[in-house]
Amino acid sequence: MKLIGGTASANIAKQLSQNLHIPKVETTIERFPDGELYIRIQEDITGEHLILVQTTYPDPNIIELFLLLDAIKEAQAKEVTVIIPYFGYARQDKKFKDGEPISAKALAKLISINADNVVTVDPHKESILDFFDVPAKSCSAIPVLANYLKGKHIDFILAPDKGALDRAKKTAEILNCDVDYLEKTRLNGSTIQITPKHLDVKNKHVAIIDDIISTGGTIASSIKELKKQNATKVFAACTHGIFAGNAIDKLLSAGCDEIIATDTIMSKFSKVSIAPILSQQFSAREFNVTR
Ligand code: R5P
Repeated sequence: MKLIGGTASANIAKQLSQNLHIPKVETTIERFPDGELYIRIQEDITGEHLILVQTTYPDPNIIELFLLLDAIKEAQAKEVTVIIPYFGYARQDKKFKDGEPISAKALAKLISINADNVVTVDPHKESILDFFDVPAKSCSAIPVLANYLKGKHIDFILAPDKGALDRAKKTAEILNCDVDYLEKTRLNGSTIQITPKHLDVKNKHVAIIDDIISTGGTIASSIKELKKQNATKVFAACTHGIFAGNAIDKLLSAGCDEIIATDTIMSKFSKVSIAPILSQQFSAREFNVTR
């Protein structure tokens, strides 16, 4: 078994290689003068089971994944397991309006052409795994996020909407604290409305848990509500920190005390690595995934 890390997930690939004692394959990943990508696998991988790690965000990283997959197949690898730490486009998992694509399905089908197994982390919905034509499974960042939050004396976990409640409950269970959720209505891409609700957060340290922080609208509205109800400290924790546009400013001006994300998308807020979870979950089964 050998491992290749794409440029979007070099950090995770390095840790997986060390934790699982799987050698990394030397690759060249460069740009032609016109900006197109040049990829070359520099060693013989004939007959090998390859683990390829690459987040599919932003868009250039999708092209890199496709070219790496093609290079691996062309080099006669026996099997390829693709680890996609953040599976971009997962939120377009259905047609919201006529004429739209089902983007998550489109990407999953294309990845399935050259992949034999797929592993991802906290997909927006588990049902997107069914879009792959090969076995696909997910793992959760909750244990590593909860472990980080242990040092923050958290009294209360808040899910910013009902969809996030399951993750929040799991976190609260690990931290042994209370949990509640907010009713969220999305008015447009970046505007969120929160239905007023009493939360038992006065003088408490609260952590908001979500899968993704994108524009920051969801979490910023939740932080405002928590501060209004006199929470002492508010931590915003997510698996995938996209932080689009002025998301960080929004969170900080809403009163956020700390922003925490994993390294599925690298940023200065990637304070927690997903690598230990991937290592633990899949080492025993050598990344063979079955559903
Ligand atoms: C929505 O269902 C997701 O779980 C996140 O709450 C959402 O994608 C976050 O987006 P934003 O940061 O733009 O509000």
